[in-house]
Amino acid sequence: MSAERLQCVTCARTYDIMDVRYTCDCGGLLSIERTGVIDRDSFDDRRTSRADIDRSGVWRFREAVLNLDKVVTHPEGGTRLYKRQGLLFKHEGENPTGSFKDRGMTVAVTQAVRVGATAVACASTGNTSASLAAYAAQAGLRAIVFVPSGKISSGKLAQTLAYGATCLQVRGDFDASMRLVREACDRLGIYLVNSINPFRIEGQKTIIWELLQDLGWEPPDWIVVPAGNLGNTSAFGKALREAFAHGWITRMPRLASIQAHGANPFYRSYRESFATRHRISAETIASAIRIGDPVSHDKAVAAISETGGVVEEVTDDEIMAAKREIDGMGIGCEPASAATLAGVKKLRAAGIMKEDEQTVCVLTGHILKDPEANYRPENVVEIDPTIEAVERCCANRR
Ligand code: F0G
Repeated sequence: MSAERLQCVTCARTYDIMDVRYTCDCGGLLSIERTGVIDRDSFDDRRTSRADIDRSGVWRFREAVLNLDKVVTHPEGGTRLYKRQGLLFKHEGENPTGSFKDRGMTVAVTQAVRVGATAVACASTGNTSASLAAYAAQAGLRAIVFVPSGKISSGKLAQTLAYGATCLQVRGDFDASMRLVREACDRLGIYLVNSINPFRIEGQKTIIWELLQDLGWEPPDWIVVPAGNLGNTSAFGKALREAFAHGWITRMPRLASIQAHGANPFYRSYRESFATRHRISAETIASAIRIGDPVSHDKAVAAISETGGVVEEVTDDEIMAAKREIDGMGIGCEPASAATLAGVKKLRAAGIMKEDEQTVCVLTGHILKDPEANYRPENVVEIDPTIEAVERCCANRR
């Protein structure tokens, strides 16, 4: 068993794993680090186990996530990998609450229980809040979520409320909600489970490990992910760094983080070789990634640098066209997830990605998450209840 500790990514100062803190005294982001080399054989063996902790696509990797036996698990993960049109799609919308957030949340809520928290909170564009609400309900903790008022999809809001969370609708954007929840957690002693919490990142690493496991530990050439608050980009970088360090893979895939054009602070920074960090006022149809001041910026820069990765931006029209394509494949996803396919198209057109390179798009959220984005009036016909009306419609439409 390897000792786990919190370590600052900026100044390398370490803290005890049981310390309730989200940043270093120097202001840097914290990361969970452990010593020793971990073997991957047991991860493969556990795939045939019937215990929840082994069936979970997060806790199956527990020695490299958080080395505990008592966990708050649904279980989560175990999401499918679809092959369509020469691409692979890992559908994280198949998690218990319909998004990849469950992978981080199972770990963060497990840690909340471990440190004796009674209330947990997050700021959210809707998916984190739904996931937190579900895991808090399971663990018997109070959940308080901060969402930008009127800016999250009806499906996500309804789901969050149904699981019993208290919903604070903040008159402001996600970034304002994020600043407010950090202050509130500090002042009121509530446990914060946004991806600034390093336990979230530990869980989200397993998207990559489960993907590698599904590919027989043969890494793909590219892994493509939508980028908002940059928790996933950071987690993917850490997952690949550790997989390489432990000898689970012998070659690094390249990461491609895709932002919406109207919510592109990380892309702007990438274009300047990360010389400056940008903070903008964000606007995009993909409400999940309408974020202008991503908290995990520094970790995400390392992820892109270490994997020889790229950052791209796509327009809302490109996102919605890609969503229709993914929906039309019979898979389906929410708008933010479709930024991946839109990004692949753009990077291929630019010659950065090649057609013959194995490319995996990570679909982050379920098609039902954003009902407003799914309605297609052209496919709906209202009719009288007669067979003639049915005949007329069918004749016209085929
Ligand atoms: N895709 C979906 C469906 C999301 O919900 C999010 C983030 C992202 C992509 C971006 O991931 O933040 O790690 O870069 N949603 C957060 C939330 C912000 O509150 O649900 P990221």
